[in-house]
Amino acid sequence: MSDFTKASEYEKVFNPRLYLETYFRLGSGSLADDFMRFVLRNLHKTLCLGELSGHTVIDIGTCPSIYQLLSACESFKEIIATWYTQTERQELQKWLNKDPDAFDWSSVVKHVCDLEGNSGKSAEKEDKLRGQIKQVLHCDVSKSNPLEPVVLPQVDCLISTVCLEAACRNHDSYATALKNLSNLLKPEGHLLLAGDLGANYYEVGEHKIFSLSVSEATLRKAFGESGYVIREFSCFGKPEDADYDTSDYEGFYFIHAQKP
Ligand SMILES: C[S@@+](CC[C@H](N)C(=O)[O-])C[C@H]1O[C@@H](n2cnc3c(N)ncnc32)[C@H](O)[C@@H]1O
Repeated sequence: MSDFTKASEYEKVFNPRLYLETYFRLGSGSLADDFMRFVLRNLHKTLCLGELSGHTVIDIGTCPSIYQLLSACESFKEIIATWYTQTERQELQKWLNKDPDAFDWSSVVKHVCDLEGNSGKSAEKEDKLRGQIKQVLHCDVSKSNPLEPVVLPQVDCLISTVCLEAACRNHDSYATALKNLSNLLKPEGHLLLAGDLGANYYEVGEHKIFSLSVSEATLRKAFGESGYVIREFSCFGKPEDADYDTSDYEGFYFIHAQKP
């Protein structure tokens, strides 16, 4: 087996619209309710209440989601979104085009506006984010320049949510991907990473999608091997009464790391 998930393999089993419908309606009681609240709170705290800001942020493995960019658009002038499969890219493009068939992110956008003390400003927030996404580029974390063939100046910040566990088939390739991402960052640039702990799969429709099971220890090791300094490491354990059976996850993590 390859060390990384091939786009063709991924596209066969991952239906991006079904993924959004299953996990991204805040308040619907799915496991993503806990995940969204945890990740959005951490991104808000780091990007809106902290000192982290700059010119450009690249989100690695964006498509088909936008939730992970809702705080970034308050602290960065330009956002570069990225895609790995065409079907995921098309789903994001519908939202960028305000297509009537685009996924409805309103429950999530409302939650972030509430965190920011801007209740009732959801439409303005979505438009602001659309305006700040200046490019949507192909990305492959297995490449030493993940944006190949595009060569960009190094940026201030990278964000990536639930992507490396999907892309990397083992812990060595996970560390390689982290090193590849650091090639996109300026010295002292920031990496904000979030995902599931202990998950071997998550379901989208009838398919069990592969996830690399990571723990706090394996993540700290991979970050150490890839030369980052961890600034913050937050974990959230699966609540005892959670009875979701769409994934065998044990919790979630949020990491703020910095390139030396
Ligand atoms: C579970 S989805 C997460 C999407 C989005 N970041 C989110 O938080 O909802 C996993 C993502 O990893 C992407 N991916 C898989 N292999 C990849 C690779 N080698 N390089 C970049 N992205 C990859 C998939 O295309 C998909 O967009």
